[in-house]
Amino acid sequence: MQKKIIVAIDGFSSCGKSTMAKALAGEKGYVYVDTGAMYRAVSLFCIRKGLMGATTMNEEAINQSISEIKLYFKTTEDGKSEIYLNDENVENEIRTLEVANGASRVSTLAAVRRELVRQQQLMGTEKGIVMDGRDIGTVVFPEAELKIFLTASPQIRAQRRMKEMLAKGETVDFEAVLANVKERDDRDQNRAESPLRKAVDAIEIDNSNLSLAEQSKILRTLFDEKTLVH
Ligand code: DC
Repeated sequence: MQKKIIVAIDGFSSCGKSTMAKALAGEKGYVYVDTGAMYRAVSLFCIRKGLMGATTMNEEAINQSISEIKLYFKTTEDGKSEIYLNDENVENEIRTLEVANGASRVSTLAAVRRELVRQQQLMGTEKGIVMDGRDIGTVVFPEAELKIFLTASPQIRAQRRMKEMLAKGETVDFEAVLANVKERDDRDQNRAESPLRKAVDAIEIDNSNLSLAEQSKILRTLFDEKTLVH
């Protein structure tokens, strides 16, 4: 018999958290929640409303607008989870560099975090959930039964990101991508509100030199240890 648990997967950007989380959720029949998509959707909302420019943001107006932002996920027929912003599917729109950079800034605001954390906690009341982000094991679900802290070197992550961008037909410069990875790491780790930290009881996996198969084997073993009822 297996008991239902909460799996929290945290780590730096472009570590492969969502690949890991999606695969586990799909295999175990768990709900997958990409909390980065929620911060990205808030960023898209703010960019569209003119509340955020390339380097500026109107904090007061953003704080006041939070109540106008309705977010939810829907699963497609082929099992993909997609995010909706005020009833519009924005899964593709949130994947740009502009929106990602905005998300990294908007996620520093306490009022934004408070609201998104509240919504994330509601999603976990039934357990059976795999959630990935930056503060899942530390703030959203400090009581999660299985916590993973995923890492990889900035160079490896920049290479992975570059591959994805090239596949989309975007022209990219490695040094620029690497600088962007480091800049976001710095902001994620050094913001005052819920900075990215490894929870004391999280298990760290550095996947710089791991294949997907090796990584999933490690994760399956950890998952089974936590869920098997003897
Ligand atoms: O994982 P991602 O790149 O989609 O996340 C986008 C941004 O949102 C990232 O800069 C950090 C932020 N974020 C956060 O602060 N807390 C989370 N739980 C998830 C993401």
